[in-house]
Amino acid sequence: MRKRILFVLTMVLGWMNTIAAEQPPIRISTNETDLILSVAPNGRLYQGYLGKRLSNESDVANFSYYAPAGLGGSNTSRGWETYPGSGAEDYFEPAFAITHNDGNMTTVLTYVSSEIEKIDNNVTQTIIYLKDKVYPIDVTLHYISYGKENVIKSWSEIKHSGKKPVTIWRYASNMLYFENARYFLTEFSGDWAKEVNMSSQELQFGKKIIDTKLGARAAMHTYPFFELGLDGIPRENEGEVLLGTLGWTGNFQFTFEVDNAGNLRVISGINPYASMYELKPNEIFKTPEFIFTLSSCGTGKASRDIHDWARQYQLKDGKGDRLTLLNNWEATYFNFDEKKLEGLMKEAESLGVDMFLLDDGWFANKYPRENDRAGLGDWEVNRSKLPNGIPHLVKSAAEAGVKFGIWIEPEMVNPKSELLEKHPEWAIRLPNRETYYFRNQLVLDLSNPVVQDYVFGVVDKIMIENPNIAYFKWDCNSPITNVYSPYLKDKQNQLYIDHVRGVYNVFERVKEKYPNVPMMLCSGGGARCDYEALKYFTEFWCSDNTDPIERLYIQWGYSHFFPVKSMAAHVTSWNKDTSIKFRTDVAMMCKLGFDINLKEMDEKELSYCQNAVANYNRMKPVILDGDFYRLVSPYEANHTAVMHVSKTKEKAVLYAYDIHPRYGEKLLPVKLQGLEPSKNYKVEEINLMPGTTSRLGENDKIYSGDYLMKVGLKAFTNGQINSRIIEITQQ
Ligand code: DGJ
Repeated sequence: MRKRILFVLTMVLGWMNTIAAEQPPIRISTNETDLILSVAPNGRLYQGYLGKRLSNESDVANFSYYAPAGLGGSNTSRGWETYPGSGAEDYFEPAFAITHNDGNMTTVLTYVSSEIEKIDNNVTQTIIYLKDKVYPIDVTLHYISYGKENVIKSWSEIKHSGKKPVTIWRYASNMLYFENARYFLTEFSGDWAKEVNMSSQELQFGKKIIDTKLGARAAMHTYPFFELGLDGIPRENEGEVLLGTLGWTGNFQFTFEVDNAGNLRVISGINPYASMYELKPNEIFKTPEFIFTLSSCGTGKASRDIHDWARQYQLKDGKGDRLTLLNNWEATYFNFDEKKLEGLMKEAESLGVDMFLLDDGWFANKYPRENDRAGLGDWEVNRSKLPNGIPHLVKSAAEAGVKFGIWIEPEMVNPKSELLEKHPEWAIRLPNRETYYFRNQLVLDLSNPVVQDYVFGVVDKIMIENPNIAYFKWDCNSPITNVYSPYLKDKQNQLYIDHVRGVYNVFERVKEKYPNVPMMLCSGGGARCDYEALKYFTEFWCSDNTDPIERLYIQWGYSHFFPVKSMAAHVTSWNKDTSIKFRTDVAMMCKLGFDINLKEMDEKELSYCQNAVANYNRMKPVILDGDFYRLVSPYEANHTAVMHVSKTKEKAVLYAYDIHPRYGEKLLPVKLQGLEPSKNYKVEEINLMPGTTSRLGENDKIYSGDYLMKVGLKAFTNGQINSRIIEITQQ
């Protein structure tokens, strides 16, 4: 009997190998990029090619199997395995690792079959099925390619059909290989109020890892995206560069490993730190989506492709409009009452913005939310501040002529709250050690479905009681501290992952029930900014640092991955050494809002702001949905400039900022991009302070697109902290 089974198994495996050998290379393409995977004679799947799209279909067959130099050629199974398991002949970081029931820690995945599905004229999905011949493990690789946007998104699904649970301890979303002379990484790092600082380095032999272990406010120190220069440090308008980002709102990890042969592998996925995950029989472990684009003309083009893709396919209401607003956070902090808020609503209307946004401090009674030490979790309106409740505020806003939005932070709790008194078991914290608090609060245990119901209920209750609420700002101010889930008991190693999945369950339910309510994702500034969360949010808060000079760098950094319509930017009182004009001109580059006491402004400043809001509203289609060009980097000059160009190229807006020009500095013209060379454009400075006129030499004149792109505009000045916004209109 045993012999017969063995015989059948051998036949099946032999047959699988035959399929493998006959399987032509799998081509995953956009209009500009090819990723070619091929099944080798050993039945395993390898990366044959990743680069510019090949012109001739017949050349694809050349990649039937490819072993890069230094890895022993085609008579060895060492090569660029697409999803390498652990413990076989590959000596570097695996994409996948599992401990089988018998304690064996090796996995070798072989190709079973693949499917290609054309979703529409632009989007194609490729699914590849792999399995281990010795253990009942199935891995499915998914690739979705977006032709026009030149973006590929990929993830994997892991399953086993054994009798008992197994433990997986590596579960990458994707692995890519490069064979270049040198590799340069641009990473984004920061902290509260100093988000997305860009720095570049050459990768040398060994590993460079970018990861976070912060759990909830996960991107506080580093961000889930990177740029990889394949022929030098990533540059704006030239050079081969890969932009990659992971859609995961928790612990993520990017590993860049240069091997003995000088080849590079890039592994992207959830950070497996403290997360050996127990997989039950037939349960599917779906990894987050890794999204990438490959550009052969620099980061500018790559960013524009990602912006287009995000607006079209990923961001909540990506193609829709965005609301301008007045937020009360910096004007009042926790210190407000109905009268004060009603005054602000009227100010919002006089400013011309669409909405008033009520921030932190409106809730909790037993432990009133007077500061950040109490009340979080008790989502009943604070009766002494707001005796007539939220419905009254929504009504007052409508009477003032603006919409009403509201702040919540439903995933968190203060120890001083009725919620924690009632449900001490709902918070993530250690039962047997002193508790550490970040901003005096704890993270609720979203791995617990009952807690998920509660968090969903926070939004649901507000919406049921106030169906006219037009907007939510959803905050998250603490990383996971005291890492212990009372719910998961002896499965603590699943907390980091199950918690994030719990967060997504809530986001999903909110989106399903309230699909049309715009939402801002906030995390004590910009510590949550990934493309999975942004399926549920229309925008994110880039930073609590609204000093306009700092913002020039912060917005420059985020714009590498996010379209400006997703980047909330407010005019505030940070850095009063800068003018209201400068502060507004900086915020106007993104999704405009105000968070400032209008009483601080004199008549001219207020009138300037009203005019700026009107200009913004008029130019919203270009700003929010146009192509974004980074023209002069604040990292490289004492000035910076960017521009938006409408898709039709009929309208453009140029933003030029002088930060700290040196005495007598030579000023170079700003060369524009993206215009129609053969068309003429009128150049007109807008957003001028009342009583001033433009001193731009080219103001009110007409130039060809060719001239503006080759010669440029003398838009910079020798003034300190000076700004110009220039409207460019095709004639
Ligand atoms: C942190 C956010 O980034 C701020 O904008 C503000 O909403 C505060 N939280 C409120 O506590």
